[in-house]
Amino acid sequence: MSLFRCPLCAAPLERGAGAYRCPGGHSFDVAREGYVHLLPPNQKHSALPGDGRDMVLARRDFLSKGYYEPLLKTICFQFLTLPGEAPALLDAGCGEGYYTAGIFQALRSAGKRPRIAGTDISKFALRTAARRERAAEFAVASSYRLPLGDGGVDGVLNCFSPLALEEFRRVLKPGGTFLYVVPGPDHLWEMKEILYERPYPNEEKETPYEGFAYRAILPVEGALRLESRADIQNLFRMTPYFWKTPRAGAERLAALERLEVRTSFRVHVFEKLCALKGADL
Ligand SMILES: C[S@@+](CC[C@H](N)C(=O)[O-])C[C@H]1O[C@@H](n2cnc3c(N)ncnc32)[C@H](O)[C@@H]1O
Ligand SMILES: [Zn+2]
Repeated sequence: MSLFRCPLCAAPLERGAGAYRCPGGHSFDVAREGYVHLLPPNQKHSALPGDGRDMVLARRDFLSKGYYEPLLKTICFQFLTLPGEAPALLDAGCGEGYYTAGIFQALRSAGKRPRIAGTDISKFALRTAARRERAAEFAVASSYRLPLGDGGVDGVLNCFSPLALEEFRRVLKPGGTFLYVVPGPDHLWEMKEILYERPYPNEEKETPYEGFAYRAILPVEGALRLESRADIQNLFRMTPYFWKTPRAGAERLAALERLEVRTSFRVHVFEKLCALKGADL
């Protein structure tokens, strides 16, 4: 049985040869690469929503080199501590699936039988993701209308993607783990120094969210030595700065063939609270 639900009638979907089907007779074709499109047309706000092809390829090439492996390891460690032999997980806004595939493989190597779904609104992202790990399920879907049942997953990852708290709370089991990855204050500081006259650090904040208890904020600090123009430009393309840097800054960066740059992440670890008996949560 799939982790996905029918986006039209919310019944469980079964994956068969070439398509996902619900008992109500709705059917959704599996694309050649292995993902399924579960975003109804009325939720599609542009012809090609989400990250475009260039951005996806830049991220794939950069992450495949292992530059963010310390972050992947921190995420995997959190999901490895989940109870049970067959945890169900969701990577919401999974992009090209670097973390989705990495988590699946880490849990399998630890002798578990994970089920993992990755969702993203960009079909370009899922084309790459579905090729990365055939044993994971991938669907084009919005994080704000997830095609998953209530309380069905043990863990949700949201890494640099839209924060759809209500949906994350809905799909998680009580006691389930929610990992929210954001940039730390000095993330990519040396790149920002080249791009901007006056760079500023990212704000560090701790936000209690309704229905969740804070377990920890895990810092992941590192430094990268990028030794090719391609790697520097791929990293730049992955960032929001790519869209808002003045031309002079982008040209200064384009001239570089080498860059040492700090990385800094914060993994906010939450537990979904159990609803109190009689309380209106
Ligand atoms: C910065 S990328 C992060 C991708 C991946 N989590 C990672 O860290 O490599 C943000 C992703 O969110 C996706 N996205 C944007 N809006 C979305 C939405 N409403 N629902 C689901 N995904 C969305 C984009 O297509 C993109 O792949
Ligand atoms: Zn249906």
